[in-house]
Amino acid sequence: MLALSLLALGLSAVSTMAFPAVKLPRAAPGPWCDGLGPGAFDEAFNVTLAAWNTTGTNTNTTGAPLVLGSGGSITGASFRHLSTWASYPFNDYPSVSLVNGTLMLNGGVSATPSQATIVQEGSQPGFVLRNDAVPSEGAQIYCAVADTDPAGHGTGHPFLAVNGDTDSFQLCKTSFQNVVYWKPIPDHGEDFDTCYPVKVQVIFQD
Ligand SMILES: *[C@@H]1O[C@H](CO)[C@@H](O)[C@H](O)[C@H]1NC(C)=O
Ligand SMILES: *[C@@H]1O[C@H](CO)[C@@H](O)[C@H](O)[C@H]1NC(C)=O
Ligand SMILES: *[C@@H]1O[C@H](CO)[C@@H](O)[C@H](O)[C@H]1NC(C)=O
Ligand SMILES: *[C@@H]1O[C@H](CO)[C@@H](O)[C@H](O)[C@H]1NC(C)=O
Repeated sequence: MLALSLLALGLSAVSTMAFPAVKLPRAAPGPWCDGLGPGAFDEAFNVTLAAWNTTGTNTNTTGAPLVLGSGGSITGASFRHLSTWASYPFNDYPSVSLVNGTLMLNGGVSATPSQATIVQEGSQPGFVLRNDAVPSEGAQIYCAVADTDPAGHGTGHPFLAVNGDTDSFQLCKTSFQNVVYWKPIPDHGEDFDTCYPVKVQVIFQD
């Protein structure tokens, strides 16, 4: 594995801050990274996610920490989605891994296996837990994009993309949780008028 330091990205305004090393293990990521440029990669182990507020203020270069909130259940299956830790204060899954274009949950409170579900307009990026779930067979729709903007407007953390898109995530209030949606549809049942745009950051632990 090749460790690539992001230090040399010319982020002059914050040049005294230490940026995490980003591992770029594969020369060519899969088609789920198509169109996302040279910074795209599709393998990242044991990372956490955060919601970077693109219109409001952020306290620091990482946004609001995200955890795997509860998304309800049906007979034989339950669901997890990305909730702010502030709205769902349980760290049920301490990290996720991006592997071959899908996201996998690490550790966790439940012995039931999980896999990433497809994400359509107006839906929540998430996971289904059921006995026949196979983590590596989750939807291959995710990619991470290292911040290579030479102008240095980024946060120093890669952004997550779903369906080839880093720019259409929003945080929306759903019951008591603040949940990540992709392309929420106005007036479409959920309380989508609470939504505001975020980018989902991939935070490497070191
Ligand atoms: C790190 O990631 C690997 C692969 O996804 C997983 O098997 C392992 O449990 C993770 N370790 C921790 C401490 O979460
Ligand atoms: C993000 O910014 C919006 C304004 O666009 C604000 O309403 C919201 O509270 C902010 N969220 C956080 C977590 O700071
Ligand atoms: C960055 O800000 C978030 C709140 O948006 C907070 O939860 C987190 O602990 C802060 N991180 C650091 C390193 O201060
Ligand atoms: C990655 O996904 C592709 C397409 O589904 C599959 O053919 C390939 O075997 C996978 N690679 C690994 C290392 O799992």
